[in-house]
Amino acid sequence: MKLQSILLISTLAFAACGSDNNQQAKKESNHPGMSKGKAIFVANCMQCHKMNDKSIGPALAGSMQRWDNDTSRIAKFIRNSQESISLGDARAKQVYEENNKSPMPPMPHLTDNDINALIDYINKGVE
Ligand code: HEC
Repeated sequence: MKLQSILLISTLAFAACGSDNNQQAKKESNHPGMSKGKAIFVANCMQCHKMNDKSIGPALAGSMQRWDNDTSRIAKFIRNSQESISLGDARAKQVYEENNKSPMPPMPHLTDNDINALIDYINKGVE
């Protein structure tokens, strides 16, 4: 076999199993028929949040208005709520007080794309 074709084959093999996108595709295919946002919600948020009722955390339907529909502000909170609180964000402090200071755990593993998909899902407001 020529060196060139060996290189080509190993590049293809690497592309087929190495990328994060493929990992993501695998995760999504475990939830057939679910939107990406819902799948991420089920895996990371549902133990503490419902759309329309209070659970451990507050009901999330309509929560964007409580953040002035500022997606980058709410994205920051979802990734690290304690940081938003310590930086003095007014809604972050208020929701923390309203929930007897039970903290929401940080979500450093979520990508910007994941959080945007979550925000779309929350904006639909349907479980
Ligand atoms: C272990 C429980 C827990 C998990 C898991 C959790 N949350 Fe929370 N969440 C809370 C609590 C408690 C609060 C309110 C207190 C605070 O601010 O920390 C909150 C507050 C919020 C708020 C603010 C709501 C408002 O009315 O302003 C949003 C938005 C939110 N969470 C989204 C999410 C998303 C999206 C996920 C999944 C990526 C998630 N949460 C995972 C417990 C949780």
